[in-house]
Amino acid sequence: MTRKPMMAGNWKMNMDHLEAIHLVQGLALDLEDNNFDSEKVEVVVCPPFTDIRSVQTLIESDNLPIAYGAQDVSVHDNGAFTGEISTAMLTKLGVTHVIVGHSERREYHGESDALVNEKARKVLAAEMTPIICCGEALEVRQAGKQVSHVVAQIKAAYEQINSEEALKTVIAYEPIWAIGTGEVATPEDAQEVCGAIRQCLSELYDQETADQIRVLYGGSVKSSNVADIMAQPDVDGALVGGAALKADEFGKIVRFA
Ligand code: 13P
Repeated sequence: MTRKPMMAGNWKMNMDHLEAIHLVQGLALDLEDNNFDSEKVEVVVCPPFTDIRSVQTLIESDNLPIAYGAQDVSVHDNGAFTGEISTAMLTKLGVTHVIVGHSERREYHGESDALVNEKARKVLAAEMTPIICCGEALEVRQAGKQVSHVVAQIKAAYEQINSEEALKTVIAYEPIWAIGTGEVATPEDAQEVCGAIRQCLSELYDQETADQIRVLYGGSVKSSNVADIMAQPDVDGALVGGAALKADEFGKIVRFA
């Protein structure tokens, strides 16, 4: 089973819309200069909401081999939900991917497993790809409970999602202790949990379905460590934070092979 690797940049709350244009232009130039083949790797950037229109205009007008996504979305369709953004608003802007359940949303905005599931279903209903995040805190890892913790998150995230829909999802395993800390999980740590996620998917659905769903790793991914992580059999890409804010560095990550 060959899964097309995905390299996704989560810009978090960085870059205004002018900086966003600059970054996407830099990335596109880097990819072009290095004969990037978009058949081999799917590249996604997830800027803040305020940048999406600018990123859309640039990517569409220059027909760049880069997809763009949002970092979150509302479960509501419209109405009195101050500060929220709907799936319809995103699809109107050509958005194809939405990160759901990032650990920073879970921690700072109290997002529960149930809400993450609701968001994932909302994104699927709008025919976009949810990038469903999971991952354990340091205490959980120290207690040796990372696999059961993440498997429980995945089971909750996929409730009421059928196998046809599951095929349209992407998972990102991001151990919280490795996010923005420079502390990258070893390739074996990443494989242990990503493998367990695939096993869980095979139990929720079947092996054929599980073999087609991409599982990304995230947490201090850089050009210097991406190849070792990507060499793991159940790691199909990366969700990159800090290193996605520099065009040449993210370009190198995309070109890991
Ligand atoms: P860093 O790559 O900065 O560790 O962030 C990872 C992350 O949270 C991506 O979603």
